[in-house]
Amino acid sequence: MQILDGKMVSARIKEELKAEVAALKETGIVPGLAVIIVGDDPASRVYVNSKKKACADLGIYSEEHALPAETTQEELLALVESLNAKDEVSGILVQLPLPKHLDEKAVINAIAPEKDVDAFHPVNVGKIMIGDFDFLPCTPAGIMDLIAESGIDLTGKNCVVVGRSNIVGKPMSMLLLHKNATVTICHSKTQNLAEICKNADVLVVAVGRAEMVTGDMVKEGAVVIDVGMNRLPDKKLVGDVEFASASQKAAYITPVPGGVGPMTIVTLMRNTVTAAKKLSKK
Ligand code: GUN
Repeated sequence: MQILDGKMVSARIKEELKAEVAALKETGIVPGLAVIIVGDDPASRVYVNSKKKACADLGIYSEEHALPAETTQEELLALVESLNAKDEVSGILVQLPLPKHLDEKAVINAIAPEKDVDAFHPVNVGKIMIGDFDFLPCTPAGIMDLIAESGIDLTGKNCVVVGRSNIVGKPMSMLLLHKNATVTICHSKTQNLAEICKNADVLVVAVGRAEMVTGDMVKEGAVVIDVGMNRLPDKKLVGDVEFASASQKAAYITPVPGGVGPMTIVTLMRNTVTAAKKLSKK
């Protein structure tokens, strides 16, 4: 069994991006990321801090807009509009989930598609569907880079994605399809989940339920990608896959932490650089 080390792979990509950011600065282009966080969800705070730190490490300008939980829809939309118009900002990221009284869809729709570094705007989602995209969503794209590390050719392989979120499951399935995999999407209503998982050459789990995929659901020699980040009552951080049993079966497996998480962040940095380059040509 081999660990798919997201920390190591992302560090390598970061070095490449750092050099690219420095070269861009020579030409007067400074990539910038605006991060909006509403309320005080502790997990969101951790993610936003990591994103800001990655910007600082790479020489990417960043600004944080931390808004109180009571922020109104109008206030949030006005902020997004002002960032759409701001030259220093090449990428806009609204950390999800938003507090319940805010309309997430309307907020995502308000982001200028060319600054939508999460690739959540319907224009970018549609472009991904037809395989003609500017940005790829950060977690699925980071996972594709990690799968590439395993050396597996996805053509014709049975890939099973557990979870159908707009952030991970759905776009992940599309990226695997683009690589000619045979893709099955499973979710909370799926019958015979264990049987389907057991047939997976590549198993991607993104459901947000601690250790729900166990070793008996994993095919011998599979590539197992764990997108989960769950805090157990004893504060231990675990994924959606039970690592101890699954790693007995898998040929390749991602750890939690240090697997998918760092890949998500480095893809966000790459998207911010891509956005800055594209905007400079306008
Ligand atoms: N919440 C969980 N994952 C993400 C992500 O990739 N982007 C944003 N904006 N919010 C998230």
